[in-house]
Amino acid sequence: MIFSTLILAAGAGTRMKSSKSKVAHELLKKPLVRWVVDAANAAGSAKVITVVGHEREQVIPLVEDTEIVVQEERLGTGHAVKIARDILTRDASDEASSLVVLCGDTPLITAETISSLVSSQQQNKAAICVLTHLLDDPTNYGRILRNAAGDVIGIVEEKDATDEQRAIKECNSGAYCFDLATLLESLDELSCDNVQGEYYLTDVVAICADKGLAVKAHIVDAEETQGINSRVQLAAATKSMQRRINEAHMMAGVTMLDPDLVWIGPDVQIENDVELLPLTMLYGTTQVAGGSVIGPNSRLQDSRVGKDCTIEESIVLSSTLEDEVSCGPRAYLRPGTVMKKGSKAGTHVEIKNSTIGEGSKVPHLSYFGDATLGTNVNIGAGSITCNYNGKTKSKTIIGDRSFVGSDTMLVAPVELGSDVTTGAGSVITKNVADGALAVERGDQTVIEGWTYRQEERQK
Ligand code: UD1
Ligand code: CA
Repeated sequence: MIFSTLILAAGAGTRMKSSKSKVAHELLKKPLVRWVVDAANAAGSAKVITVVGHEREQVIPLVEDTEIVVQEERLGTGHAVKIARDILTRDASDEASSLVVLCGDTPLITAETISSLVSSQQQNKAAICVLTHLLDDPTNYGRILRNAAGDVIGIVEEKDATDEQRAIKECNSGAYCFDLATLLESLDELSCDNVQGEYYLTDVVAICADKGLAVKAHIVDAEETQGINSRVQLAAATKSMQRRINEAHMMAGVTMLDPDLVWIGPDVQIENDVELLPLTMLYGTTQVAGGSVIGPNSRLQDSRVGKDCTIEESIVLSSTLEDEVSCGPRAYLRPGTVMKKGSKAGTHVEIKNSTIGEGSKVPHLSYFGDATLGTNVNIGAGSITCNYNGKTKSKTIIGDRSFVGSDTMLVAPVELGSDVTTGAGSVITKNVADGALAVERGDQTVIEGWTYRQEERQK
């Protein structure tokens, strides 16, 4: 089954009320148009071509792996295909004899549906197979016209339709598979003699049917073909996708206390026996191994979580957590954090670009930036690295089994050996050798009876 795909993404999307291009809006952190490109690729499309126009400087970077065609003037969906004609004509001589056309704003379409659309067109030797859906409220959609025998004979746009045609509930989803050579021949026959004065791609259906060529319809559940024109529709599509993704994970053995309150991006991988608590978001290339519990109220992006970890009320970005790591409540792991096996980042702890060694613990109120901790290090409450002098960032190194007293300031660059102890409240500016105690602290002054004398004076 060889086919190419053309994605129409030149339209304006005024109903989003946005300075951002419609197809650049994100659904579970992936741009709308990207969902469509990925579905086409997953279905095995030999090539993907994207027609861009409105706000194209925002759209092009999102589809750089596709061939891009610019539609300067938006004269309709038929015009958009005409613009791509040069590339398509070149294709007509390739093996790809079918062309799938998709809209850049229908992110829920699946690879399976695209494949069945192509098989239906190819197996029936049809000129076109139109992807249709049945809607209780078909307003704004093109209606599918069939003859008495049930064959598809045309598509009429809402604005051009008679009252009788408007009552038809079978609608054009905006996705099609065409026999490429027939499509290319038909493009010249399109006119803009309609209410909107546009070249309608949909007119190709009647052009082919009139010539006695076969036109098929493939009906799918309308949830899959919902287009996004407004933020209300974006939220609805997000719900549908959330349900689809979460159900697949639950079927594969992931527990969710409330799947309505868990959001998982399409490229996230989760092993069975992971438990996700409410208000958890897993995005990007995040991977979670079995036995880990995440949430409530946690967000992970592009991170790897090992087996049997707990992550509670935390944000984890581009970080790696080995097995049995404990994180939170309320930890913030920024890019470049590596938590080795059995280590801990506790309450109100921020870690950036640092490695926390096996079994080491940073339990309370700390900031560690650009640091490397050996194994079984214990960091006292409130201790921080002073890694930035306003100009440059410097490194802190702490050896195995060292015990950093509470409220120690580690002024980088600085290195503590193994088995080092620092006194609480110390500002450590010089390296400390293995096994040493470092204390930096003024002597304590004691004035006997001072409080009582203050109270006497006030009487
Ligand atoms: C189109 C179909 C309609 C179908 C509906 C499904 C036509 C004439 N009508 O209507 O039958 O029910 O989609 O959503 O095709 N685009 C361009 N260049 C243009 C015009 C549009 O790239 O010049 C792109 C848009 O960005 C969008 C897609 O084509 O991704 C569809 O355009 P839109 O204006 O939304 O079409 P509708 O009028 O909704
Ligand atoms: Ca339109």
